[in-house]
Amino acid sequence: MNRLTLSEQFFRDQAQSGASGDLSTILNRISLAARMLASEIMRAGFVGKLGFTGSTNVQNEEVRALDVISDDVIKQVFEHMPMIAGIASEEMEELYPVPGGEGGKYVLTVDPLDGSGNVDVDGQMGTIFGIYRRAASGPAQLADFLQPGRNLVAGGYVLYGPSTMFVYTAGGPVNGFTLDRSIGTFFLTHPNLKVPEGEGNYSVNEANESKWDQKTQAMVRAFRLQQTKCGKRSARYAGALVGDFHRTLLKGGVYMYPGEAKKPEGKLRLLYENAPLAFVCERAGGMASDGRQRILEVKPEKLHMRTPLYIGSKGDVGEILQMLS
Ligand code: F6P
Ligand code: MN
Repeated sequence: MNRLTLSEQFFRDQAQSGASGDLSTILNRISLAARMLASEIMRAGFVGKLGFTGSTNVQNEEVRALDVISDDVIKQVFEHMPMIAGIASEEMEELYPVPGGEGGKYVLTVDPLDGSGNVDVDGQMGTIFGIYRRAASGPAQLADFLQPGRNLVAGGYVLYGPSTMFVYTAGGPVNGFTLDRSIGTFFLTHPNLKVPEGEGNYSVNEANESKWDQKTQAMVRAFRLQQTKCGKRSARYAGALVGDFHRTLLKGGVYMYPGEAKKPEGKLRLLYENAPLAFVCERAGGMASDGRQRILEVKPEKLHMRTPLYIGSKGDVGEILQMLS
């Protein structure tokens, strides 16, 4: 078995791109946060950290104890890391300027604990991250974050499932690493991931059907009745974007969160959910769209901007775009 570790891969990326060590330091810190969070999540049931805090976040979602812990862990691992100027997180209304990061070349966007609704049922959860280079210097500003996903320098996610996986790309191949918990090290287990074509699942919350426009309803019905040209798909829905996307990356098919008649922007957030996953998906040969344009082309108007999401195999997403047009 190949014994390449995640941090060795970071240094290979760095050597190949001729970059300074900053990017690999940032990625190493994300991997540290991932190991800390994997351990928190595993122990949450024993130590009374399941459940809600009683408050709601900027998205009007009920906040769980683990959401707060996850956000704190991300802030902690970047404290006094001079290469990162600021963080935009699902859990923070405003951007967070990293103390001591005024000279940093990069900014981080992060969904610290995606799918936290799965906490009490021992289901999959994840962390999604994107790293952008910024033009300005000094304290982090909104403009540093409002960049289209095609500017991403690196993006990826951590999946907390039966095992913890770290999947990312720094613009080259998409590689997946699995955590060996006993020694706290991620090893390369899924090199050069490619989204399969012509097979896999469709994944969507079909209980939203009555909220969709007719084209969307007809499109999802075609998947349900197994009448799509891209092939017959079976349904799967984990209810955690990272879990649903990870399956789509490995098995093929499509994950979607369409817009709704009264909420055309849908639910998922561009900066720290859709764009980093779209970056991974495209580098793995797949496709990601908001129904009209590539996710990676969408220019964010604000930190917590939402867009619809159709992501997965080219054949599936291409057919969806035809049906929606
Ligand atoms: O972060 C938003 C999120 O929790 C995703 O992880 C998940 O895919 C989605 O919401 C589930 O939404 P719904 O419950 O509406 O299907
Ligand atoms: Mn999320």
